Amino acid sequence: MTRIAVLSLKGGTGKTTVTLGLAGAAAARGRTVLVVDLDPQANATAALGIDDPPFTVSDALADGRRGIAADALMPSTWPVAAGVHRVLVLPSERSLEHRSSTAPGSSARLSRVLHKITGSETLTLIDCPPTLGELTRNALVAADAALIVTDPSYFALTGAAQAVEALDIVRTSTNPRLVAAGIVVNRVRARSAEQVFRLAELREAYPDLLLDPVLTERVSVPASQGAGVPIQAWAGAGAREISRDFDLLLSAIDSRLTATRTQPAGGFA
Ligand SMILES: Nc1ncnc2c1ncn2[C@@H]1O[C@H](COP(=O)(O)OP(=O)(O)O)[C@@H](O)[C@H]1O
Ligand SMILES: [Mg+2]
Repeated sequence: MTRIAVLSLKGGTGKTTVTLGLAGAAAARGRTVLVVDLDPQANATAALGIDDPPFTVSDALADGRRGIAADALMPSTWPVAAGVHRVLVLPSERSLEHRSSTAPGSSARLSRVLHKITGSETLTLIDCPPTLGELTRNALVAADAALIVTDPSYFALTGAAQAVEALDIVRTSTNPRLVAAGIVVNRVRARSAEQVFRLAELREAYPDLLLDPVLTERVSVPASQGAGVPIQAWAGAGAREISRDFDLLLSAIDSRLTATRTQPAGGFA
């Protein structure tokens, strides 16, 4: 089983985009995928075609019983082609915001409600809110791996450093099996000298963690999300190119995790 928390310190870097892109890539390979939407903004829930869900991750966390999230799972409305699996969703809603300030020791709540709700072959992607608060801590405690998303901006380096530090803290305190799935750089624009510089800076600081390929800014990304269609099934400009990159990224993450698992315990970098 692989459970990957997708996180970053700020909004708009592409956590939801990477979650959806990898979910589509894995489904296209015939893998069973569960997307856990842990952001009260519920962008992933909407992009996966779920409107006004009757039972959400917020309800599951409030209930807190082991495995209770199974009751909230919904199939996404993404079109299913031959050989493509349907993506399952644990939807979010606004009220999830109020679950972020629960009692100390509550960081294992998500792990508990997700207990055995999927088969061992399922790829679970947890789309985190844009902070390292209680909800993201819950995701890191429930996950086997953490994928850090950043844009190639001035804040990328400090943001990535803080995220890696957050992983270390959770790993040494509560979840020893947590590993880094890597750092994804998203929203890269060709011909931006500033971005080339930031990218080089990131590569130098995290030579082993930075994943290839980096993801380019493509107009088809917001367009497909707004239409509730996976980028893999979108016909707009650049959709095929970024779909290929998501597929390559999935392979890169898979190899990293396989390599990490076969190594003796060690650090992230
Ligand atoms: N590679 C990309 N190309 C074009 N637009 C993108 C790309 N990545 C993200 N976006 C857009 O930027 C906005 C923020 O991305 P999102 O994935 O929602 O970020 P986050 O979940 O980190 O807040 C969304 O409208 C999304 O469609
Ligand atoms: Mg998001």
